[in-house]
Amino acid sequence: MAVERSFSMLKPGIIQRRLVGEVLSRLERKGLRIVALKMMRISRELAERHYAEHRGKDFYEPLIRYMTSGPVVAMVVEADGAVAALRRLCGATRTDEALAGTIRGDLANHTNLNVIHASDSVQSAEREIALFFADTELNEWKDGEDEWI
Ligand code: PPS
Repeated sequence: MAVERSFSMLKPGIIQRRLVGEVLSRLERKGLRIVALKMMRISRELAERHYAEHRGKDFYEPLIRYMTSGPVVAMVVEADGAVAALRRLCGATRTDEALAGTIRGDLANHTNLNVIHASDSVQSAEREIALFFADTELNEWKDGEDEWI
């Protein structure tokens, strides 16, 4: 499997509910390396660029309002097959389909209050990482646990 990077964002409700540590812990325990991490308040413009493909859908406006309603935690994770691994940890987008044991299945009960974003492909990840992070904010580090996980 190829080493990939994926982009993830913990949505405003996760910060309000003091669940940041719980979610980060799940990603770390899976073996994903955090190579960038920051708390930020995203502008409407950035939210619109990030969700450009969904403009015009019925959930678009509520989604933009939710994502700009409070701070988020944006991050880049790296691992073999990171994009699919992160999506599996998150579970299905629709909360009535997300299985118990996944982040959404365990921590969210309404799709419009979805708790985490995860890139859906390597190409989306590259685009999203460039939107949120400068190259100088991405930190390479040697993973001493790689052969154990
Ligand atoms: S699509 O077009 O249906 O395939 O969209 P999808 O990729 O499943 O979801 C895109 C993002 O929109 C969020 N979403 C919603 N937000 C608010 N209300 C409703 N009903 C809703 N449905 C989908 C969904 O959580 C996705 O956000 P991210 O940040 O990518 O997880």
